[in-house]
Amino acid sequence: MQVPTLSFKPIVSELLGEAAFVYIAKARELERAGHRVISFGVGQPDIPTFQHIIEAAKRALDEKFTGYTETPGIRELREAIVEYLNSRYGTDVRPTEVIVTPGAKGAIFLALAAYLNPGDEVIVPEPSYPAYPEVTRFLGARPVFVPLKWLGPSGGFVLDVEAIEAAITSRTKAIVVNNPHNPTGALFTPSQVDRIYEIARERRLMLLVDEIYDNFIYDNQPFKSFLSFGDWRDYLLYVNGFSKTFSMTGWRLGYLVVREEVATKLTRLAVNVWSCPVSFAQKAAIEAIKGPWEPVREMIRLFQQRRDLIVRKLREVRGFEAWPSTGAFYVFPRIGRVLDEVGISVEEFVERLLYTKYVVTLPGTVFPDKAGREFIRLSFAVDSKLIEEGVERIKSFVESLYAR
Ligand SMILES: Cc1ncc(COP(=O)(O)O)c(C=O)c1O
Repeated sequence: MQVPTLSFKPIVSELLGEAAFVYIAKARELERAGHRVISFGVGQPDIPTFQHIIEAAKRALDEKFTGYTETPGIRELREAIVEYLNSRYGTDVRPTEVIVTPGAKGAIFLALAAYLNPGDEVIVPEPSYPAYPEVTRFLGARPVFVPLKWLGPSGGFVLDVEAIEAAITSRTKAIVVNNPHNPTGALFTPSQVDRIYEIARERRLMLLVDEIYDNFIYDNQPFKSFLSFGDWRDYLLYVNGFSKTFSMTGWRLGYLVVREEVATKLTRLAVNVWSCPVSFAQKAAIEAIKGPWEPVREMIRLFQQRRDLIVRKLREVRGFEAWPSTGAFYVFPRIGRVLDEVGISVEEFVERLLYTKYVVTLPGTVFPDKAGREFIRLSFAVDSKLIEEGVERIKSFVESLYAR
């Protein structure tokens, strides 16, 4: 007979990990073996958390602000978040509608856990950040993948609104919208946002909206937040966080915005899972959100230059099709032509690139399900010298594939 510790729920062993973390581990191993790895893998700014935020955390620690806090986060932080969202998006969120969570991932988990029953369906435009479909599956519900539309290297990816509408069934509970988008670097236009919102209204569906990259917008493109709809309380599970904007990935701070009665109920789930977000990190987050914002703006300007550089370099690689991302800090070039011509899969391409040239990229297929099979993701939150060298290594790797 099996010992009890071996008979865990099957879904636990079926869950996919997050590839970015797998590749961090592989890269560390190669580095330990003495190789100089260049990583375009992980989704975090290469710039450390801004100093004024670090100082605020130090102050909080010196003041011994180290105990449990309120489960949805300290009031002062929720007020700061509300002030920020309301002034930025002209909305009317109240502090009682905000739950601060351990990372935006905590917010995604809470939101889905609150609404999904076994058998429910969640429409996930793909390629997709993996947490939405994985948590959905964990809860016994079903992700229904709807590919984004690829308009070619001049148009990039857009939401396929008609396909999303066509995928709705009587079991559909929610539609996921991540804007700006990981992994494609797309920024969905205000008119696409309007159309998706209209569908939610007409079909009475929830929208799990993740705007964690809302500060990473390039070329002064217009951005419409889903929070700017007057009746957002009826449709939105809104996720945002501190990880990307303030380069605070390791501080584990995100937040969920939902109508008050839902927030109250979810607070009961949160208290049973994590009690509260990290106390002194919350104090630092207040300083982050209050500013100064110049370091953030500076980072975005820098990232835009890096984006231009990486796209220019990738276009020099034989068989690659690359275009400038309008949001987030990823490029998602199509390498389908190379894969076809040399007869390998995208996973094999990425593995061999890693083990022969020590360059980390992510295969599009780890943003499940299949829509990314001709694409790779590269983060351009990477120093420009490393971008130059890393893409040179990719170029020579691709040449070696053709030379065989
Ligand atoms: C779209 C998206 N949502 C959420 C997260 C998770 O953020 P956090 O580190 O705050 O949990 C990420 C991180 O890569 C992301 O890309």
